[in-house]
Amino acid sequence: MLLNPDHAYFAQKMLSDLRNEKKHMLFYLTAASTVSGMHREEYREHFTKEASSEMQHVIEFQNALLGLGVDLTETNDAIEFNHYILSYSPIELLDYALKMESEVVANYAHRIKEDMKLLSEPDQTWMENFYEEQLVKSRKDVDNLKMLLRTV
Ligand SMILES: [Fe+2]
Repeated sequence: MLLNPDHAYFAQKMLSDLRNEKKHMLFYLTAASTVSGMHREEYREHFTKEASSEMQHVIEFQNALLGLGVDLTETNDAIEFNHYILSYSPIELLDYALKMESEVVANYAHRIKEDMKLLSEPDQTWMENFYEEQLVKSRKDVDNLKMLLRTV
């Protein structure tokens, strides 16, 4: 792992974010198959698209961690993933997605406002940019999910 304890602490937080992104990916992937009811096809399309953008986020986090000097082959943290809801109900699934995405928006805002102080330049500016981009993506998902839940 990283020698500087502050950098290592930041990396731990990032690895936990990576686990969350993996959870998102697996959740959407599973939801794409389990979602039931009249509008199943549309939901399936939505969840499949989300799973694929989450896969992109997972790759982005992994690449950024490697760039910061974290050895992903040495840490189990990168392999483990968090559990997620299993359901056939479109509303339950969308509701869970909304909670999940809102949670990471809050996490990323905290990374930007507080945890960034653990890093030194140029990593600090790079990570600020990285997390801002991730925050924008998740926040757009939050707003979209609210609209999906409004019409169902
Ligand atoms: Fe994501």
